[in-house]
Amino acid sequence: MSNAPPKMTASGVDVFYGAKQAIRNVSIDVRQEDVTAFIGPSGCGKSTFLRTLNRMNDTIPGARVSGDIRLDGEDVYAKTMDVVQLRARVGMVFQKPNPFPKSIFENVAYGPRIHGLARSRADLAQIVERSLTRAGLWNEVKDRLGDSGTALSGGQQQRLCIARAIAVDPEVILMDEPCSALDPVATARIEELIHDLRGRYAIVIVTHNMQQAARVSQRTAFFHLGQLVEYGDTSDIFTNPREERTKDYITGRYG
Ligand SMILES: Nc1ncnc2c1ncn2[C@@H]1O[C@H](COP(=O)(O)OP(=O)(O)OP(=O)(O)O)[C@@H](O)[C@H]1O
Ligand SMILES: [Mg+2]
Repeated sequence: MSNAPPKMTASGVDVFYGAKQAIRNVSIDVRQEDVTAFIGPSGCGKSTFLRTLNRMNDTIPGARVSGDIRLDGEDVYAKTMDVVQLRARVGMVFQKPNPFPKSIFENVAYGPRIHGLARSRADLAQIVERSLTRAGLWNEVKDRLGDSGTALSGGQQQRLCIARAIAVDPEVILMDEPCSALDPVATARIEELIHDLRGRYAIVIVTHNMQQAARVSQRTAFFHLGQLVEYGDTSDIFTNPREERTKDYITGRYG
């Protein structure tokens, strides 16, 4: 286990939608070298909390976040924080693959271009190739980069979205149930990919699939009714949970 400071820290985070509180006093560390899984029953606040980490809640009318969230010690909610830059540093992959209605190449090239990451066309092409390779998609698409991203299979689209996140050189990748719309084969490919990406990026994945959390993560956070009930090593959470509520959830007593 490393003694490096956490990549991200959240302390005392509350989230409200209007008058309704969705997250209560959540504190958590996200470590660079780990995949962190968020689990818990539907409506417990996993997506809401995930979105606080890159200020995606800013885009939801009525959503209000308080508490302290830091990326490498830097206050994510500081007035001086450039939110566009933040969302490149803390990328997001959604439940439903959402490629742009543009070519495969453009889907990946778009971010590096608007962030000015490529010095030339050749450089941009290289970023696109590297990102697609890291996302495990290059061999399947290298001869059809001009085809629309939306013409790919669901699993390919999701890997394209991961390539798009990778292309801007993120530090953290947030994934909100990235496999829930995929078949078992496509799911296995994404899980493999998460293994390959581990360490290079801090990864946080929301999943309803307990086997998936056990397979892909080193740390697991169990949420219930807006609270973080228990957070620890994945093996402990699944084999030796401290809290009764965690035990009930992982043994399928509610969900
Ligand atoms: N845009 C919104 N406006 C108002 N309330 C919301 C909004 N999004 C979520 N909520 C509420 O906040 C609570 C947490 O929702 P959230 O989507 O974060 O849960 P979740 O754990 O991700 O659930 P699921 O597993 O079903 O995706 C729920 O009560 C939900 O109804
Ligand atoms: Mg959700």
